[in-house]
Order: sequence, then structure tokens, then C-alpha cells
Amino acid sequence: MRDIIICETPDDVADAAADLIFESQTQAVAARGAYRVALCGGATPRLLYERLASDEWREVMNWPEWEVFWSDERAVSPEHTDSHYRLAYDALLREVAVQNVWRMRAEAAALGEAADEYARTLRSRLGPGFPVFDTILLGMGSDGHTASLFPGHRVLDSSALVEAVEDMTPRRLTLTLPVLNGARQVIFLVTGAEKAERVRDVLEHNDPRFPAAQVLPEEGTCTWILDHEAARLIR
Ligand code: 6PG
Repeated sequence: MRDIIICETPDDVADAAADLIFESQTQAVAARGAYRVALCGGATPRLLYERLASDEWREVMNWPEWEVFWSDERAVSPEHTDSHYRLAYDALLREVAVQNVWRMRAEAAALGEAADEYARTLRSRLGPGFPVFDTILLGMGSDGHTASLFPGHRVLDSSALVEAVEDMTPRRLTLTLPVLNGARQVIFLVTGAEKAERVRDVLEHNDPRFPAAQVLPEEGTCTWILDHEAARLIR
């Protein structure tokens, strides 16, 4: 089952996501003493990260208990403006008392080794057993990709935890479907009219050609937070 929240504006999407994250981090810290979250990249989450760094949320979140990971990363240095790490660092992480930050080293020349190294990090930080995130944040491209899982790509069939995506520009590292679908909570943030058709394909037709439609945690929740424009073709 997917929950769908339709908001008026991208700012309202950020507010709705911040509310959900506050609830999840509070429950996770109470239950397990830590909140393990995978952040996403792209343009959409910036508003959310800025919101989380604002006075309203900075004061109340349990930042020292957060363990921050990424759902995917582009093969650029962490200082590069295309880096998902840099986006989160600039907008959020440098403003708050988060100590445990595990970025994907996608700038490594040997991308396959970097994928294996991140898989080991997941096993050691989120184990024992299969790594389960409290929250995974995701976006969706207009082609239906999510994280760095692209339509028709071989990585969609992977049973590894982390994969190198070598044949895209830029190259990337990504969490795989088993990890996304093993999460306690997945939150998609999707805004803008250019995503509306794909939103309909995924949310109304559950069309598996689009990787975003293949994300539906078995045990966890899956919430899509949309602005009015992205939601305009769904009933
Ligand atoms: C990226 C991410 C990608 C992103 C979606 C949405 O490299 O950008 O891998 O999965 O989350 O493409 O991006 P926007 O938020 O920029 O639309």
C-alpha cells in the first residue's frame, strides 16, 4: 500500500516530509536508540534539508542519534556542486549536531570496490542481519528512475546491497531494490508538472517498467508526497 499526500506547493511538500521524519526519528530513537536514514539527491530535497536546518526543527530533532547515509551518489568529488553529499552538507548537515555521516565514495576510480565498501558499512552499522533503514528518502526522474535505478538497467535485478552504475554519465553508486524494499519507511518527494505523467504511471497503474514503481517495502510504509502540479493527472 502506498500513502499519497498531495500538497499545494513544494514548500508544503518539505513541511509534510519534515513532520513525517520527526515522527519516525522519535519512534526510532525510542525503540533502538538511533535513527538510520538514507538521504537522496537531485534538486527536490533541498527545501526539505533547509527546512530541517531551520530553528523549528533544529531544536527538536535528536541529531546526535541520527546516522546519515545516502540512497545514491554521483561519481563526483564531495565538493562538487553535483554531489548529493554536498547538497545535504550545505543545506543541513553543517547546521546541526549530526555526528554519524556515512557518505558514498562514488568519486573512487574503482567504483565496484566503493560499492562493496559501502555494503560493508551498511552491514556493520545497520546489522545484524539484512540492513534495515528507518527511513529512505527518494526522488523520481521524469523517466521513472529512482535513486540510480534506471528503466531496463541490469542493476534492477541485483541482489547485492549497493551497486556501481558504470554506464551512465555521471557514473553512480546506488542502493538496490532489496535494500529500498527492506526499509521501515520510504518517502518519495516529487514536485513539478514535468513529473505528472510518470506519477500517474506509478501511482495509478503501478507500471513496473518504471523503477519507482518497484519500490514498495514489504513490511514498511511507502509515502509519496507530491505538490499539486506533480499530482495533476491522478484522481
Ligand atoms: C539524481 C538522483 C535521482 C533524483 C531524481 C529526481 O542523481 O538526481 O539520482 O534519483 O532523485 O532524478 O531529481 P530531481 O529532484 O532533481 O527532480
